[in-house]
Amino acid sequence: MSHQLEKVKELIQLREKARLGGGEKRIESQHKKGKYTARERIAMLLDEGSFEEFDMFVTHRCVNFGIEKESYLGDGIVTGYGTIEGRLVYVYAQDFTVFGGSLSEALAMKICKVMDQAMKMGAPVIGINDSGGARIQEGVNALAGYAEIFQRNILASGVVPQISGIFGPCAGGAVYSPALTDFNIMTKGTSYMFLTGPKVVKTVTGEDVTQEQLGGASVHATKSGVAHFAVDTEEEGLTLIRKLIGFLPQNNLEEAPILETNDPIDRLEDGLNDIIPDSPNKPYDMYEVIGAIIDNGEFLEVHKDYAQNIIVGFARFNGQSVGIVANQPKVMAGVLDINASRKAARFVRFCDAFNIPIVTLVDVPGFLPGTGQEYGGVILHGAKLLYAYGEATVPKVTVTLRKSYGGAYCVMSSKHLRGDMNYAWPTAEIAVMGPSGAVEIIFAKEVAGAENPAEMQAVKEEEYREAFANPFNAAKYGYIDDVIEPRNTRFRIIRALQQLQTKKLVNPAKKHDNLPL
Ligand code: HXC
Repeated sequence: MSHQLEKVKELIQLREKARLGGGEKRIESQHKKGKYTARERIAMLLDEGSFEEFDMFVTHRCVNFGIEKESYLGDGIVTGYGTIEGRLVYVYAQDFTVFGGSLSEALAMKICKVMDQAMKMGAPVIGINDSGGARIQEGVNALAGYAEIFQRNILASGVVPQISGIFGPCAGGAVYSPALTDFNIMTKGTSYMFLTGPKVVKTVTGEDVTQEQLGGASVHATKSGVAHFAVDTEEEGLTLIRKLIGFLPQNNLEEAPILETNDPIDRLEDGLNDIIPDSPNKPYDMYEVIGAIIDNGEFLEVHKDYAQNIIVGFARFNGQSVGIVANQPKVMAGVLDINASRKAARFVRFCDAFNIPIVTLVDVPGFLPGTGQEYGGVILHGAKLLYAYGEATVPKVTVTLRKSYGGAYCVMSSKHLRGDMNYAWPTAEIAVMGPSGAVEIIFAKEVAGAENPAEMQAVKEEEYREAFANPFNAAKYGYIDDVIEPRNTRFRIIRALQQLQTKKLVNPAKKHDNLPL
């Protein structure tokens, strides 16, 4: 064998060794836990055969506590690039089979290289987390590595989409990288995220909790909102990431891809002309409205199980990617509260950062009253949503279906927050508050002094309803551009989006805003 052939053989052997990560036994143990390895995950995520790996021969440089005697090619992370539906993405996946995927200085630098490359190329970054946290033997160098990643997450925010899969442990300061990214996908039963684990919690607060109760996928998808998606399997999570990427542009200077659609743009949905119940206090399901108007009923919902009184997610109109924000009358009458405001504000800001038009469907009785909300700072959290809509310069199309009361009217993409096209159904009620509350305040004396107070209340409510509980008062002032037939909503939204394609709107130059946090 020639010298060159021998060298080539050596290279092939080295590559094979690197591909084994921490070795077959640890791979087996990973599989036994119901988890895939880093390389298996990347293979499932990317288009077949598109992955190109970086830094396969990187090893750690630590010499503490005997770790210098143990080292693995690649050092606990697989990094590189590939494609999803032919579009470039950068990826990294922590390899739990090498020191539990724990983060060394060398490993952090591999992640940083991928992120720097993604920023230069203007392509999304997808990170799969499965790690025991800072590599304990490395001390401050591991911490420095985390901070280097955080800094890059911050600079990439709003420039390229960043998506995190949490497919295993993610604890301590390690949680802050996913927290800084745009979307977190957690696997149920095999992943968890918390700042301090159950043992520390027990010592400090005396609480007895399991890892799952403290930071499992279901907890973060329903209670904290840290996870945007909770999935049953890793396959489901990886397919979801591919689908999500399909709705997004490569970066903040590009538009999301437009897909061919066979769904007619002028499809009439007669059912929508009869979906609003006669009683204003009776709910209907906003999902039915969304499903009826978007292309082929295909909706990728974000934060499905969190703050269900508001719905957010991606859909397409005539092939164009849009973000949908919709009050859900079926849950707490669609009221805005702290969690709903935070959820929708973050989504609106994401869409605006990445040139995705926003379609808002309004049926909101107002903000939720009470000490719980006020003490929790609903003023500031509600202001986040207000701020997000007001600063957004992407096309904004609003349809008011039924209630739009009080501050919530202003907040939900109103004309006054630079809504481009504001439509209303004939059933819309746009006013400072609902009829019964209004009558209790402005006709309190008449009602109290009446022979039959209940009857007087009803009469006054009817008077108020006549005057305000309709869209024409707002339309009279041009705050509503048109009152539309509900069954025609899809067509009107598509027409509006077509009209708004060349929209140009620039906010005043500033260092950055001061969003109420
Ligand atoms: C070095 C680690 C490690 C770590 C795990 N390993 N975590 N090595 N540093 N942080 C190694 C183990 O020694 C073991 O090596 C292998 O990874 C697998 O670990 P196991 O414990 O056998 O796996 P499992 O039973 O599944 O438990 C996983 C685990 C546990 C729950 C993650 O390993 C664990 O508690 N690790 C420590 C977590 C931690 O406290 N990290 C520091 C957090 S502070 P062998 O050779 O046996 O395969 C932090 C600060 C970040 O991260 C701050 C950023 C600003």
